[in-house]
Amino acid sequence: MASRVAVRRAQERDVESVAGLIARLKALNGELDPHFLPAGDLEARAREYVAKSLGSDNAFILVAEDEQAGRIVGVIRVELVDRVFYKPRIKAVITDFYVHPAYRGKRIGRLLVEKAQEEAKARGAGLITAVYPEGNIIADSFYSRMGFRPLQKELYKPL
Ligand SMILES: CC(C)(COP(=O)(O)OP(=O)(O)OC[C@H]1O[C@@H](n2cnc3c(N)ncnc32)[C@H](O)[C@@H]1OP(=O)(O)O)[C@@H](O)C(=O)NCCC(=O)NCCS
Repeated sequence: MASRVAVRRAQERDVESVAGLIARLKALNGELDPHFLPAGDLEARAREYVAKSLGSDNAFILVAEDEQAGRIVGVIRVELVDRVFYKPRIKAVITDFYVHPAYRGKRIGRLLVEKAQEEAKARGAGLITAVYPEGNIIADSFYSRMGFRPLQKELYKPL
């Protein structure tokens, strides 16, 4: 029987699993682009990052859980930003988004983004954006399918 995957708010007891998925995302970013080479002790930093986010008023984390296996298989983290000069003023930014490779292509990513949109809207956000390294063409296809369009550019120059 196919297992059911449900999306819910992350809790304290999920810190280890969520941090593991976020560490995988950062390692992947490093493989895609040398400007995103992960720092050492990635897992420890990810645990601290997740724990801080759970205690923050300006961020939230949702997880996708395989209920039969009792396993967290996907995560999305969103930050709320006050765009002081613009309307709509509150922007939701997807800062971290990862589905375990064994669970991809099953519309779990879509479900996570849809639930994140609902939660962001309920918290007053008027638009949602996503940030990821330039070379991630899977994310390009995914977000395009989800109706996202380019909003602004971030240029860089090594120093
Ligand atoms: C991006 C990611 C989260 C997508 O998760 P997923 O659960 O496999 O995606 P879904 O099954 O919900 O796919 C949703 C849509 O995106 C499209 N899509 C997903 N993966 C795709 C791929 N590899 N190539 C092309 N299109 C893709 C699907 O066709 C689908 O469209 P549809 O629903 O209209 O048919 C997943 O590939 C992942 O974790 N990648 C590594 C981390 C990453 O790149 N994160 C994003 C930037 S932070």
